[in-house]
Amino acid sequence: MKILVINGPNLNMLGIREPAIYGRKTYADLVNFVKESAAALSVEVDCVQFNGEGEIVTAIQQAYGRYDGIVINAAAYTHTSVAVLDALKAVGLPTAEVHLSDINAREDFRKFSFVSLYAQKVICGKGFDGYAEALTWLAENAAARQ
Ligand code: DQA
Repeated sequence: MKILVINGPNLNMLGIREPAIYGRKTYADLVNFVKESAAALSVEVDCVQFNGEGEIVTAIQQAYGRYDGIVINAAAYTHTSVAVLDALKAVGLPTAEVHLSDINAREDFRKFSFVSLYAQKVICGKGFDGYAEALTWLAENAAARQ
């Protein structure tokens, strides 16, 4: 099983950006955590991070036929991007949505997620552990869904 982990804008600033919300660990720490979690599940993983909406759309499109599932933290585009939603629907891969923070406990504009209109699993407010939970969910469910 091969899973693509997509992180959106400003997640490359982890460790620097709003540490009270996102913690002190860096994006490199996140990638290491995701790789270790995937290895423990015996799944292959690739991690990508893009600040641009179009780059995320392209990464989702290129996942078609190459990956068995997607973990996505679309960051701010979660709340704005019909294009990201449409790309997820177009490729039709099993998808788990992750947010480090609890988007339901923050500003009102974060409570709506376009990604949630497609994602079969949504995990918020669990920090890095949310990515491990997403990988576990895909490992257990993605094969059965296809
Ligand atoms: C985030 C939550 C989003 O609202 C925010 O725009 C982000 C990160 C999270 O992981 O908690 O950039 O997706």
